[in-house]
Amino acid sequence: PLPQPCSVVIFGASGDLTYRKLIPALYNLAADGDLPAALTVVGFARREKTDESFRQELQDAAKKFSRSGLNDEVWKSFSQRLFYHRSEFGDAEGYKTLAQRLDKLDEERGTRGNRIFYLSVAPSEFEGILKQLAAAGLNKAKEGSWARVIVEKPFGTDLPSAEELNTVVNNVFEEKHTYRIDHYLGKETAQNIMVLRFANAIFEPLWNHRYIDHVQITASEPLGVEARGPYYESSGAMRDMVQNHLLQLLSLTAMEPPTDLSADSVRDEKVKVIRCLRPMSPEDVVRDVVRGQYIEGAIGGQEVKAYRQEDRVNPQSMTETYVAIKVSIDNWRWEGVPFYVRMGKRLPKGGTEIAVQFKSAPSVLFNKPTEPQGPNVLVIRIQPDEGISLRMQCKMPGTAVRIEPVKMDFHYGTSFGKASPEAYERLLLDAMAGDATLFARRDEVEGAWAFVDHIEHAWHQHDNPPPLAFYPSGSWGPKEADDLLARDGRTWRRL
Ligand code: BG6
Repeated sequence: PLPQPCSVVIFGASGDLTYRKLIPALYNLAADGDLPAALTVVGFARREKTDESFRQELQDAAKKFSRSGLNDEVWKSFSQRLFYHRSEFGDAEGYKTLAQRLDKLDEERGTRGNRIFYLSVAPSEFEGILKQLAAAGLNKAKEGSWARVIVEKPFGTDLPSAEELNTVVNNVFEEKHTYRIDHYLGKETAQNIMVLRFANAIFEPLWNHRYIDHVQITASEPLGVEARGPYYESSGAMRDMVQNHLLQLLSLTAMEPPTDLSADSVRDEKVKVIRCLRPMSPEDVVRDVVRGQYIEGAIGGQEVKAYRQEDRVNPQSMTETYVAIKVSIDNWRWEGVPFYVRMGKRLPKGGTEIAVQFKSAPSVLFNKPTEPQGPNVLVIRIQPDEGISLRMQCKMPGTAVRIEPVKMDFHYGTSFGKASPEAYERLLLDAMAGDATLFARRDEVEGAWAFVDHIEHAWHQHDNPPPLAFYPSGSWGPKEADDLLARDGRTWRRL
């Protein structure tokens, strides 16, 4: 499906996301000629601004954060699509005038009554905004048009709050009109997981417990919590990255082939994986989950503070900035194959990857226990330097037989010579086209919370909660995470 003419109304238009991600993404699309000819963006926020001053501000955003800088011609025509609507989120009048304004844009700009309402606000604001949208009749499209809502994470902080939030959203917009953004799904290489697995004949026959020893999914960031102390205090690495981004990568890696590529077929398969995640008892959590927090240290030669000294963070905080989990998927394909998932802030290097480690070749000929050779590893690099590599054993040139691992390596940058679009570009176009494949469905989100809640409950029980492991900033995380794999005779890959 193609993106259709529409008005995108951004609630929270003065926020960081609009400035850093949404407007630069829309601008990039305009520069590449990918936006529907009739597309308008209406910023909805509390601050006093005019269309003109709003455009001025966003010009700055596009200059700083767009893929290839600002082209004056493109900006001039793009900026004419931007409008500002000032209102309190709770003011019914503001929504009535919004409706009138959108109707007028339909007439003047040909947006055909199609609307996307983008909730780029704290979840506590969702209900108020949605109720007002419904009261103004904006959730119901006119005959032949559509109205959709895009919501940003966090979708709740545990299963009950996620269910409640989903009910609030679905009371006003049906599930088929609801688009939950998980920006990892918009990343080029995340989309490539399915292509790699299902457009090639050689991987799928091996993609199971008979040939795969284990899988490692890593997201590593040198950044600390920056200015997001209060949010991070209530979230931690588990809720911030594991519940959503990493479990999404895990389900794409572990899912069965879908019957077709429709949004629901793909999401049906992903949700089945989520349902097969083995729930953890408090004892499992003690054994199979490591939670860590960074202390002071150095990143790239720069000294950095401990998490507990960050701005607006509790000096006795128990919030985790690192998690490592041994996840078991209880289904036929993955019987006995652990998925080790880890995420950490203030690690030495930024990078996200999925490493599929195969079982070793039989040792009768070359793989003698006395001279152990590395197994084959298929690495899907999500970022940076997107690509795929396969490690295998080779004979070194020379008269003696010496075996060394080598890598077959594919880099997006050199093979296609073209920068991948930003995740938000793809996702915004898909929402305009009505394709929800790369958006999280209600049952996926709730299933992921059900899994995460077991761990959070064990961490937050009053008697005898599992300890928090401290690690210096700039190290690869706590020693306990290495022990978690060492116990199984394995080691983490170095990025
Ligand atoms: C966000 C988290 O969802 O993802 C951040 O809230 C994290 O804490 C970010 O840094 C990582 O995204 P990316 O695209 O930079 O890997």
